[in-house]
Amino acid sequence: MHGLAIDAPCGPAEEATLAALLRCCVREVAGPRGLVWPAPPYVLLRVAGTLLRARTHGGAALRFEGPPERLEDGSWRPLSTGELIRLVETELQGHNGEFAGQVAASRDAVAAILRARAGAVPPADPWLASEQALVYGHPFHPSPKARGGAGWLAYAPEAHARFPLRLLGVREDVLAEGGDTSALDGIGRGPDGYRVLPAHPWQLDLLRPALGDELIDLGPGPVAVPTSSVRTVYVPEAEVCLKFSLDVRITNCVRKNAWYELTGAVELTERLGPVFAEIATRHPETRWLPEPGYRSAVPGSRLHEGLGVIVRQSPWAVCSPGVTPVLAGALAVDAPAKDPRAWWRAYVTVVALPVLDLYFAHGVVLEPHLQNVLVGLDDSDTPTQAVFRDLEGTKLVAGRHDLGGLQPEVARALTHDAERGWARVVYCLLVNHLTEIAATLAGPDDLLLRELWLDARELIARQAAGLGWPLPLSDLLAGAPLPAKANLGVRWARSADRAAGYVPIANPLA
Ligand SMILES: Nc1ncnc2c1ncn2[C@@H]1O[C@H](COP(=O)(O)OP(=O)(O)OP(=O)(O)O)[C@@H](O)[C@H]1O
Ligand SMILES: [Mg+2]
Repeated sequence: MHGLAIDAPCGPAEEATLAALLRCCVREVAGPRGLVWPAPPYVLLRVAGTLLRARTHGGAALRFEGPPERLEDGSWRPLSTGELIRLVETELQGHNGEFAGQVAASRDAVAAILRARAGAVPPADPWLASEQALVYGHPFHPSPKARGGAGWLAYAPEAHARFPLRLLGVREDVLAEGGDTSALDGIGRGPDGYRVLPAHPWQLDLLRPALGDELIDLGPGPVAVPTSSVRTVYVPEAEVCLKFSLDVRITNCVRKNAWYELTGAVELTERLGPVFAEIATRHPETRWLPEPGYRSAVPGSRLHEGLGVIVRQSPWAVCSPGVTPVLAGALAVDAPAKDPRAWWRAYVTVVALPVLDLYFAHGVVLEPHLQNVLVGLDDSDTPTQAVFRDLEGTKLVAGRHDLGGLQPEVARALTHDAERGWARVVYCLLVNHLTEIAATLAGPDDLLLRELWLDARELIARQAAGLGWPLPLSDLLAGAPLPAKANLGVRWARSADRAAGYVPIANPLA
């Protein structure tokens, strides 16, 4: 832990860190124990025997107003992050010596981001500006901005970083690649017998690959602009996105492209082409970002995964002329809606309906959380297209696709069973995504929030009818509880992200 002195206890970094941890406590710690009580305008909860309260609106999004408090000797006192960490540590079984440090590191990172932003110029490109707008990050994560190691600020999208890529040359006999990598050849050239491999400079510092005959340094390459995931960048000169491995824990994962994910991205791109073409006949405003190829070096070595880069299409290339792609996560912070209900109906139509169609009619599980969806706004800021991205989280429902011929690891990483896939869709689309957009549109207006969910219900019910009322969708519309991903739980258990469980929360469609 370091630099805590920079955080005045009431500064925005402390406030945001406390709020995110408190949301996790409501959802994952007190909620499942039956220790959360709505007492409008407050929510009350008990953690490790201590009664806590905060003024809240926005339904399940838990937007807090004013400082959260704890009851001590009969009076309400301001609650601090340090106190809440101690209560969590007391309440949860077992021991985790990293947890408090991760929360504090995230708070420090937010403070550093805020300082850096104050003196930085946002990108002129409105899409990139939206990618760099997630200052506070995931609202239901105990350490949303913790980023291992020093030097991270130079690569931070929230600080409006931009930096030149490093170009490596890979000798052709140790080249690993798949699919269409022509976009990479446009980024630089190596000497005869070598192919160019762009590298993230931060990853090179972490990995320190031995340079020699097989792998040579070609010097700095074109400028890259980091997107919201940190490790995926946009290269304006080549008009392409590159998804790098980054051996840094960001939220729950060390961000490494496993070898079977490199192959899997190309495989999925081929399979999804015809699926999205068919979806477009029913939902013409649906777009996606293909990942046509990957390149890396020295198959079978640690460099294969460490230096593996996935080529991804730019959202500008798939949106119609006059349509501006904007990250959904940025809209969850600030939605430009003059008529919130009309805007919301347009939003739900372009974002939610194709996701349901893809799952039920095609056995495709998207991961449509706030960071994996871009919404195309027309010149009046109305949602008119949706762009789905990130094939790492995109899966095929087991039994609905012929995966014969794929290597077993690739096939396994590409599939979800139907039940797990549906939980993933519902969590990402409703809990992570629509709940936040609705809360931002409604602000403190609870009546409007109820109307928004009635609208969503009507639109989703129409889609359910079109799909022949599949059982999981009928259950959802009947009010079955929603699965909320347990981010605090998975950090506390120090488990892999894929092992994360869900906790049930109230369904606003009920
Ligand atoms: N509401 C949110 N839900 C999920 N992730 C969020 C949210 N807000 C911010 N994030 C950040 O977005 C990223 C989500 O991770 P994810 O695995 O989808 O992306 P990735 O695979 O690293 O990159 P890309 O999306 O470019 O393919 C993480 O860096 C996470 O901290
Ligand atoms: Mg993503």
